[in-house]
Amino acid sequence: MRIPKFEMERWQSQWENVVELNISESGVVPLTVRELMEGSGDAGSLLDTKLGYPQSNGGEKLRAHIAAFYPGASQENVLVTTGTAEANYVVTCALVEPGAEVVMMLPNYMQVAGAVRGFGGDIKPLWLREDLRWAPDMDELRRLVTSKTKLIAICNPNNPTGAVLTEKQMDEICAIAAKAGAWILADEVYRGAELAGGTTPTFWGRYEKVLCTAGLSKAFGLPGLRIGWVVGPAGFVENLWGYKDYTTIGISMLSDLLATVALEPARREKIFERTRAILRKNYPVLRDWLDHHADLLRYVPPTAGAIVYVGYNANLGWKSMELAESLRVKKSVLIVPASQFEMEGYLRIGFGYEREILQKALSRVDEVMFRQVAAD
Ligand SMILES: Cc1ncc(COP(=O)(O)O)c(C=O)c1O
Repeated sequence: MRIPKFEMERWQSQWENVVELNISESGVVPLTVRELMEGSGDAGSLLDTKLGYPQSNGGEKLRAHIAAFYPGASQENVLVTTGTAEANYVVTCALVEPGAEVVMMLPNYMQVAGAVRGFGGDIKPLWLREDLRWAPDMDELRRLVTSKTKLIAICNPNNPTGAVLTEKQMDEICAIAAKAGAWILADEVYRGAELAGGTTPTFWGRYEKVLCTAGLSKAFGLPGLRIGWVVGPAGFVENLWGYKDYTTIGISMLSDLLATVALEPARREKIFERTRAILRKNYPVLRDWLDHHADLLRYVPPTAGAIVYVGYNANLGWKSMELAESLRVKKSVLIVPASQFEMEGYLRIGFGYEREILQKALSRVDEVMFRQVAAD
């Protein structure tokens, strides 16, 4: 199998720890081990943990806590993986054979698109519409999905737009999938990171051929644990476990222990409160900057996630990658260009890290991005 380059992941992997000001990240400032363990009573057990192989599909308690985040799910529905990335990978591996048709919501985190293409499948894009506040056009989805469609790949809340589907839209997507007998892969890694309102509803329980993937990297602020999961029908999840025997076998013992603490339902909700407080505190910095440049920039306020997808005026004359590269080289600022979502004319800006970094980075963006306008 030849995989296409995963442009955004490579860009971030290469530069995020090198630049001075990273505003490419879509999650929030990570928790420390101490903050996570505070009041849990498990700090001692961390030091006494034997570093053997853990239960390779995830410890029982961990799977039970994950299941509790999905109404009606139980441990048998859960496979624990190394990040949401491995969860998406094993699902794609299991479902996509050469020639398989995958209808994919775009823009999106491009991992599933790259893996599908690598496995010889075809991506049929379902472009979210800015004029619909980044919602999909359901009539278009109806046209795209046929009896040949193997999988519909959704990201909700969406990366990069921060848009969230209504429950009516979710049910419609399920009805369209059911008519075609297609699977739904719902990447819900931003669920829990809402700027306002409660936790985004899950696709789980709406249709029998649903596979929900998620993990601790975004809404939980724990990317370093590299914990993710798939929630799906028990028999299918058992089958997916076999794919992990060829990838990572299992997660790390310490991650299993720490993730079990993070996912305990009361603690999970406390962690979400922390995440939402960070989002509410930081968002106005970016919003005010965007509003200040309203003649040249436009955006749909995100409902969830620590990201804004910013459209910019074509008169600025930038190709998104050229702008991102100028910012990186001249100002040591990292952003995500729309070309990495196979689009043009947009940037993704993250606001989940320190406010001061965001402020500094935005003033450096000013110095580069509007240079033509300043010169006129
Ligand atoms: C939608 C989406 N899915 C999966 C991932 C990968 O997540 P993880 O760090 O849990 O592997 C990301 C990372 O940005 C993402 O945005």
